[in-house]
Amino acid sequence: MPHLPPDLHRRRLLAASLATGCAPGFIRQALAAEVDRFELGVASGFPRPDGMVLWTLLTGPGLPERVDVAWEIADDEAFSRIVAQGTETAEAAWGHSVHAEPAGLAPGRWYHYRFTALGARSAAGRTRTAPAATEAAPLSFVIASCQRYDSGHYAAWRQVAADAPDLVMFLGDYIYEYPSLPTALRQHEAGFPRTLAAYRARYATYQRDPLLQAAHAACPWLLVWDDHEVENDYAGLQGNQLQTDFPEQRAAAYQAYWEHLPFPKAWRPVQGQMRLYGSHDWGRLARILALDDRQYRASQACQKPGRGGSNTVTMKECPALADPRRTLLGTAQEQWLAQAWAEDRPWNLLAQQTLMARFTWSDPAGPEGGTYWTDGWDGYAPSRQRLLATVAERRLGGVVVLGGDVHAHYVADLKTDFRDPRSATLATEFCGTSISSLGLDQARIDAALPLNPHVRWGRADRRGYTRFRLDARQIEARLMVVADALDARSPVTEAARFVVEAGRPGAQA
Ligand SMILES: [Fe+2]
Repeated sequence: MPHLPPDLHRRRLLAASLATGCAPGFIRQALAAEVDRFELGVASGFPRPDGMVLWTLLTGPGLPERVDVAWEIADDEAFSRIVAQGTETAEAAWGHSVHAEPAGLAPGRWYHYRFTALGARSAAGRTRTAPAATEAAPLSFVIASCQRYDSGHYAAWRQVAADAPDLVMFLGDYIYEYPSLPTALRQHEAGFPRTLAAYRARYATYQRDPLLQAAHAACPWLLVWDDHEVENDYAGLQGNQLQTDFPEQRAAAYQAYWEHLPFPKAWRPVQGQMRLYGSHDWGRLARILALDDRQYRASQACQKPGRGGSNTVTMKECPALADPRRTLLGTAQEQWLAQAWAEDRPWNLLAQQTLMARFTWSDPAGPEGGTYWTDGWDGYAPSRQRLLATVAERRLGGVVVLGGDVHAHYVADLKTDFRDPRSATLATEFCGTSISSLGLDQARIDAALPLNPHVRWGRADRRGYTRFRLDARQIEARLMVVADALDARSPVTEAARFVVEAGRPGAQA
């Protein structure tokens, strides 16, 4: 990595201040900065043609309520050509997070950025702007999700940083709320987080990992959440234990999420809500439609008695699965999405949380009508149908659905009618496997794949991510797998490669 470790930066700054005979106060601050003020690293996100969000968060004891943090962004790694700079105030009320938003930068360019506060300097990060709206520049990106810290090391992130993509799309489960088993590889804090302080501590645990920091520092990210940023299987304002104080818990979790990641200032949660869904254009090549399938969803169908959350049920025992009033996105987001597709671009990429393809665990033509997990799109099949009907009506030939959540690599054709393998393929789906969270038993997946012939690839036994390259003609997808997720130094290799041609939905091996 080209980035200096933070302590090297700190020492250089300290040495520089001593050499130039700075005021004693400054030296005292620099000495105080032997406490790492940037322990969680730096990140950038949500690139636009003229800017992006630059993020850091101040750490260490004795931070004042408000701290001025200077940021600078340069053309070159040596920071000899500064193109923009400014100051943001990090406030205790928002976790001393910094969300700087440079504007007026050149489109389609790479930049370097860093922060200075309290006499300390952060590591440098690398970021870029999106291409101009008229440009058809290709896009290389990675989808990743589900990085349970106590289940594995982040060898996958090391490889992502080495891949140096234009963009990482993180599709949910950035943290996990579980306490760790004593036998776990590495430890979460004790207990389930319920308060702002506890969620902040959980993010800090994750973000102290140097390989995760390296991936953040390598390129801008675009993020959506799934459930574990709050708690497993929550739905809207319903917690999985039906706890009455869940709205306060969710508000605390949403705030910590915003504080710890490179979101725009304008997205800061208000009254326990955070608008996450939206569209992001990559020149005239692609529109990325980021969805939020947690905040506005109806609660899961046919829940277990006395509790919230998901279930696995047959269609026969749970006819509510087919109730058209049930929604995964909420009415407002569904209406927004119906209008948001880019008909003038070859690609529409749907950055969302979970597997969209129907996935049944028993014969869908049998008397039980198939067996479904209620937390995913199968639990909200009418919502999926409405979405795919729009794709068909608008004749959108380049819809690619990107997902996470299920800890497996899936490649699927999204069909007009999932019961009929000969029906038209409307869109292509790639579900990245997890960075470190454990997957289902592969034997179960293998047994279910023949029931789901539109699923072209299904492997739950490897951790990793999916790497894409997209131009006006095609998308190439490479399924990347970690040899041993218990080893931070593990090699990462390509397990399979698929191609999607523009205007021809469906993956080709
Ligand atoms: Fe997950």
